[in-house]
Amino acid sequence: MKYTLDQLNAYAKRYGFIYQGSEIYGGLANTWDYGPLGVALKKNIKNLWWEVFVSKNPNNVGIDSSILLNPKTWEATGHVSGFKDPLMDCKICKARHRADNLIARATKGAVDADGWDYQTMQDYITEHKINCPNCGGFDYTPIREFNMMFKTKQGVTTESTSDIYLRPETAQGIFLNFKNVQRTSRMKVPFGIGQIGKSFRNEITPGNFIFRTREFEQMELEFFCKPGTELEWFKYWKQFSLDFLTKVGLKSESIKLYDHPEEKLSFYSNATTDVLFNYPWGFDELWGIASRTDFDLRRHQEYSGHDLEYLDPQTNESYLPFVIEPALGVERLLLAIIIDSLEEEQINENETRTLLRISKELAPIKIAVLPLVKKYQGEKSKAVYQQLIEDFEVSYDDSGNIGRRYRRADAIGTPYCVTIDQQTLEDDTVTVRERDSMLQIRLSLTKLNEYLRLELKK
Ligand code: GAP
Repeated sequence: MKYTLDQLNAYAKRYGFIYQGSEIYGGLANTWDYGPLGVALKKNIKNLWWEVFVSKNPNNVGIDSSILLNPKTWEATGHVSGFKDPLMDCKICKARHRADNLIARATKGAVDADGWDYQTMQDYITEHKINCPNCGGFDYTPIREFNMMFKTKQGVTTESTSDIYLRPETAQGIFLNFKNVQRTSRMKVPFGIGQIGKSFRNEITPGNFIFRTREFEQMELEFFCKPGTELEWFKYWKQFSLDFLTKVGLKSESIKLYDHPEEKLSFYSNATTDVLFNYPWGFDELWGIASRTDFDLRRHQEYSGHDLEYLDPQTNESYLPFVIEPALGVERLLLAIIIDSLEEEQINENETRTLLRISKELAPIKIAVLPLVKKYQGEKSKAVYQQLIEDFEVSYDDSGNIGRRYRRADAIGTPYCVTIDQQTLEDDTVTVRERDSMLQIRLSLTKLNEYLRLELKK
């Protein structure tokens, strides 16, 4: 079953994954807060990415750079002058639109205006009388440029010299530290630097639940290699990234690749692929993988006056490395994982269950401890909970009937339920129920932790 965005939103709220931001004040549009299960899932996703791309990857090391960077950074990269969207306001309903999005929407994606000059976009919208998708009217302001950088002031003065930006990507903190990291970690090119952190973009048209927001988290790798080898590495990281998506449980039919044609490549890129996922509104960008040449290092070298070249110890050659960048949004991946894991399963003639068939590794809670009858087995169950909490993420649930508690555990993707019943009090055995098969086995408490440890690794 394909869930609508509203259904996914309701599911996420109901079980404590995601809430509307600032809800008690009427909300703040397009901000989302992550509840107990949401934060656990996010952490598991980030931990897995970090493990696969950084801590257990001999090619790469990690960094955690500042959100606030010297503003010159963004002059060097072109973000101050060029990180802009073409904006049109509907004069009737005041809705704000990106001109290229208006065209893409009206033509159902057949016309891609990305990269057109503003006059051409304006003419197309007028000629084809593209109405406001919000109110149906046709009365727009001319296209204006809108910079997506989040600007704020640093310190106590209000002069323009105190202007500072929240980073729109984590990548630049990596480039600024390329030399620091290379020297102190003694890594040799080719090697990569990974980072996970918040980024901010003043998006004109955020939306689609957590897909496009103004505050989001990125998991980015900048992989530095010798010029001339970059297209081989680009291929390598593209496949590596696809393998990661298989590991987190996305279905192959939910994923499509879009290789940017040469004429659509950013001026600094010689190859770019977007990994698209089949969201409820259709295929859209999940992960951007780009070969960025030496653009960033070259610009920072120019603007900072610091030599950022790498001296190859074997050949004694000095050069600016080229860069491959797989850049992934945490929230977009989280949404994709929920979409591909959530199902309504018919379990008998009159019963269905909501099941989050998420990988065991990512499941926010690994084991639910459930007394069959709280009054009789509550105390023993708490002792079992204590035994398990040493090794796993465990929940304890004694409210409502056991069937409903199993359903809740299934709906949030808990791989195992451990039930304590009358027999437990007599012989120290419990039942262990597996989420997907619903099969139950009886096991001694002395073997429980080891059994679950092995099962959770499968
Ligand atoms: N350093 C390159 C870079 O930032 P990007 O394609 O602009 O490239 C990378 O962003 C990824 O970050 C996207 O593929 C997406 O997963 C995520 N992302 C970008 N903007 C986002 C937004 N407004 N809300 C949520 N995720 C976003």
